[in-house]
Amino acid sequence: MYVRVSENCNSHCFMCHFAGTSNALNISDEQYDKLLNHMKKKNYKMIRFTGGEPLLHKNIIEFIKKAKEIGVKASIITNGYLLPLYVDKLLKVGLDECIISLDGSCSEVHDSLRNFPGCFDNIIKGIKLLKEKDIIIRVNTVVSGKNISDICNIYDLLINLGVDQWSIIPVKYKENLWNEDSINYYREFVDKVKDSNDIKFLGYSKNFAGLSDEEIKDTFDNNSRLSIKDNCKVVDNVRFYIPDKDVLVPCNCVSHRLKELPFSITGDMEEVCEKIRLWLKENNCSCKCEPLNVYINDHPEIMDEDEILY
Ligand SMILES: C[S@@+](CC[C@H](N)C(=O)[O-])C[C@H]1O[C@@H](n2cnc3c(N)ncnc32)[C@H](O)[C@@H]1O
Repeated sequence: MYVRVSENCNSHCFMCHFAGTSNALNISDEQYDKLLNHMKKKNYKMIRFTGGEPLLHKNIIEFIKKAKEIGVKASIITNGYLLPLYVDKLLKVGLDECIISLDGSCSEVHDSLRNFPGCFDNIIKGIKLLKEKDIIIRVNTVVSGKNISDICNIYDLLINLGVDQWSIIPVKYKENLWNEDSINYYREFVDKVKDSNDIKFLGYSKNFAGLSDEEIKDTFDNNSRLSIKDNCKVVDNVRFYIPDKDVLVPCNCVSHRLKELPFSITGDMEEVCEKIRLWLKENNCSCKCEPLNVYINDHPEIMDEDEILY
């Protein structure tokens, strides 16, 4: 269960809907308790807090505590700016996984893509603090023509920091940002990491542009990407709760594409979710899938493993 706990964000990422949003659309305590009851009833395994920036929600620590009390694992996706302030509190309430968004190997690249001076330095501080404790550290990297030249340096940095998992996501919801050099940087990266076991590449992150030469060429020539063809299984395993609309959607990508659904999404939360799930199974989703989601579709059994690989 992904939950967008706040639409507030302190970062101004060039590629994100929530860049600099200051309308405080925060999940209420009532909505959160209702969601946890639903999760308990349906035997969910994990909750993942996202946003906006989840560390901006004033009750985030309490939310994690409550989730742990019903026996689910807890994960957070953060831009990392506030991490040094929050590490102790997050660990004290038993956070199982911290996902940090990092798009560059140095402040010049990362902070400028995210229009967020000081963010890179705080991420590094935060990761070092987390590293002293028993928690899974994952990095999400959004890749495009703007930072693919830095991808090998990011790899070196993550290895040095001892990051456990890496998910690479080609940028979504943007025009084609690849350029004529992108494919060469990509090939250099694939060659560098092909035998790497020093970090767990999630899903198809090691080959995020494609598994065959044809697919890779299509990615860089036509801004195409790995996608799920038929009978999507991600929608059987993933849910995303949007408090602002009190809507539950199957898959973490659909939340940005609600307007494309050919029916109304008002009504009972579970019924609406089921309607969207069945529709997505029958109609190829036009979303730009993440390499991790394509992998979950091909290997749904990873959802049953104890290790968090989803
Ligand atoms: C919307 S953010 C919310 C959590 C938090 N504020 C953060 O920056 O990590 C969740 C994830 O989506 C990624 N993201 C944002 N815009 C994206 C885009 N256009 N394409 C792909 N991923 C994107 C972020 O890098 C982050 O890893």
